Amino acid sequence: MQVNDGEYEFTVDGGETLLQAALAAPVPWPHRCRQGGCGSCLCRVTSGTVCYPRMAPMLTVPEQQEGWCYACLATPTSDLTIEIG
Ligand code: FES
Repeated sequence: MQVNDGEYEFTVDGGETLLQAALAAPVPWPHRCRQGGCGSCLCRVTSGTVCYPRMAPMLTVPEQQEGWCYACLATPTSDLTIEIG
């Protein structure tokens, strides 16, 4: 997984969320609740796909189509390129 045009690059193990893998890397990824409630981990997927195995994100379909993603809920289903603030 690449973040911010290659500023960070790390792997996400099976079952890990994007946020769990990022914090283990370690990447200073914004976060607070870690359970989909605060929106502080919001990022944008610019390449690749994710799924939400435990809980659906509070995102509209257009927001998801634009690539917005809750890193604390999402797991990758392909190689990813992500932008964070
Ligand atoms: S850390 Fe709060 S929504 Fe992800």
